Amino acid sequence: MTWKTAVANIPYGGAKGGIGCNPGELSISELERLTRVFTQKIHDLVGVHTDVPAPDMGTNPQTMAWILDEYAKFHGYSPAVVTGKPIDLGGSLGRDAATGRGVLFATEALLNEYGKSIAGQRFVVQGFGNVGSWAADLISEKGGKIVAVSDISGAVKNSKGLDIPSLLKHVTENRGVRGFNGADAIDPKSILVEDCDILLPAALGGVINRENANDIKAKIMLNFSLLWFTKFHFMIKVKDYDA
Ligand SMILES: NC(=O)c1ccc[n+]([C@@H]2O[C@H](COP(=O)([O-])OP(=O)(O)OC[C@H]3O[C@@H](n4cnc5c(N)ncnc54)[C@H](O)[C@@H]3O)[C@@H](O)[C@H]2O)c1
Repeated sequence: MTWKTAVANIPYGGAKGGIGCNPGELSISELERLTRVFTQKIHDLVGVHTDVPAPDMGTNPQTMAWILDEYAKFHGYSPAVVTGKPIDLGGSLGRDAATGRGVLFATEALLNEYGKSIAGQRFVVQGFGNVGSWAADLISEKGGKIVAVSDISGAVKNSKGLDIPSLLKHVTENRGVRGFNGADAIDPKSILVEDCDILLPAALGGVINRENANDIKAKIMLNFSLLWFTKFHFMIKVKDYDA
């Protein structure tokens, strides 16, 4: 966060905090209480001119709204104390899709250098939450083929390309990609080494390591854990594109 905000010259500070839990196992009311108590503990550490928390894994606009509301009890109404809040509470239009859209722009820019475009490229996406699902949706709109996707529920593959709008509907209704009709189930452990042109790891950090790095078949891997500002997305060219 320190690098991200400094590089973009945005005065949001640079800390990151989290709660060790699985939000998927908690009820809405448990999540609300957890978030509010967390805010009670950190309210003195954050602030409009100190540190501005942003949404990340396992959080959403509702989480940011709870933080904002709880913070107000101590310091008064300060909508700028969090980003990623709902539009009605002063959030920014397009924030939901922003990181996934950045993935699209960064990928387009790199492919452009090789005289190629998104259309026809085969993508694998690990993680189908905010970042992964938006990236997959925008990429498939541009003609990219999403051939395999995984999330905490499982992994699915269709070499001809997954139907992303149907997959999104399935995920909303079933809380995960598992059981999606238009694909075959595969071992989630193999997702990073599936055959593809471009790999998008969009779940946890540290998933590529010395155990699996040599087995990755993708020619390009996109790393956005560090930076979500579009211009600064990291791209790692894994193999020579024409090789
Ligand atoms: N949301 C943002 O704007 C943003 C910005 C910068 C970086 N990031 C990074 O992007 C990544 C994803 O964030 P997000 O906001 O999309 O989170 P999210 O909570 O919306 O989605 C996370 C996804 O990863 C899946 N997942 C969790 N554990 C997994 C595992 N072991 N194997 C496969 N899938 C697994 C979940 O099921 C879910 O689909 C995180 O590393 C986050 O730090 C997000």
